[in-house]
Amino acid sequence: MVELPTTSREWHLVARPHGWPEPDHFALREVPVAAPGPGRIVVRNSYLSVDPYMRGRMDDVKSYVPPFNLDEPMDGGAVGRVIASEAEGIEVGDHVLHQYGWREYATLSGQGATKVDPDVAPLSTYLGVLGMPGLTAYAGLLEVASFREGDAVFVFAAAGAVGSMVGQIARLKGASRVIGSAGSAEKVESLVNEYGFHAAFNYKDGDVSGQLRAAAPDGIDVYFDNVGGEHLEAAIGALNRHGRVTVCGMISQYNAVEPTPAPRNLPLVIGKRLRIEGMLVTDHAGLRPRFVEDVAGWLRSGELTYRETVANGIDQAVQAFLGMLRGENAGKMVVALES
Ligand SMILES: NC(=O)c1ccc[n+]([C@@H]2O[C@H](COP(=O)([O-])OP(=O)(O)OC[C@H]3O[C@@H](n4cnc5c(N)ncnc54)[C@H](OP(=O)(O)O)[C@@H]3O)[C@@H](O)[C@H]2O)c1
Repeated sequence: MVELPTTSREWHLVARPHGWPEPDHFALREVPVAAPGPGRIVVRNSYLSVDPYMRGRMDDVKSYVPPFNLDEPMDGGAVGRVIASEAEGIEVGDHVLHQYGWREYATLSGQGATKVDPDVAPLSTYLGVLGMPGLTAYAGLLEVASFREGDAVFVFAAAGAVGSMVGQIARLKGASRVIGSAGSAEKVESLVNEYGFHAAFNYKDGDVSGQLRAAAPDGIDVYFDNVGGEHLEAAIGALNRHGRVTVCGMISQYNAVEPTPAPRNLPLVIGKRLRIEGMLVTDHAGLRPRFVEDVAGWLRSGELTYRETVANGIDQAVQAFLGMLRGENAGKMVVALES
């Protein structure tokens, strides 16, 4: 039996942000590590996930996931190594994916942990390309947008964890054209040269509708929306008849204090017979085996690639989260803890 550490550090939300979160809305606190108890395990976390949806959990509003409680540990995806176990089927030394992130050590029910194999893929990928963001892209494109071979696909936040997967899956499944938008010249370059998009532009250069028209002269059939607002408006303008929109996220609105008036061109939905559908990845768990088989195969063959931005140390977790909201990440933003 490994001797358990006595204390762990974990991030608490201590005040609710209005608009952009600030570092003093959070506190890193030292707490005792709980012994496992029957059916439970203790995990030393190796990687923590910071995701856009966590911003919504900082507001005290009813949503599809409950808000974080003040002065309690925040949670979210994490992967780590089991250091104590009283759960059947889970051994010390196993690696697991679970939802007790934002902390160094987690004590949880074995039923809340999924075993992962670091020899199959690096541990961090179970939070990204082979994890929740990857499945979001796969399900949102293939199931929600009913992607068909020959579709022209446009995605915003295209150099991020979800967006970079959407573009690559569309290309691999036979899209006629894949167009992406991102917030820097370096990201735009990576979309074309690394991820194999046909065209890309930087939305910060302005005139998003004009740039989109130039990149997709024949219009688009699918829009994968990660951003909302003006960007959704531009996409509605560019969509062809019977086009489909997966509304996956609206990151341009997460820190907004006033609701956006866009999209102002919603009446176009009628004449163009558009279908606009919201999605939650949790509704698509049944796709996971097919998703893992496809994506693991594309990774092995080198047809699909991914990037990660890694922040080091538990003390950097809040900065990593805020940096991701500001666009400082290329691919999935993760926090690595000392192993
Ligand atoms: N519905 C679901 O089940 C589900 C699941 C997972 C994720 N999502 C959503 O999917 C989206 C992407 O998530 P992710 O985890 O892959 O994050 P991500 O794209 O890796 O990171 C967020 C990116 O958003 C971009 N961004 C930030 N503010 C923006 C703005 N005002 N306008 C345009 N782009 C902006 C930034 O890139 P730039 O440098 O390009 O600005 C940033 O890198 C988010 O909206 C998230 O909420 C939804």
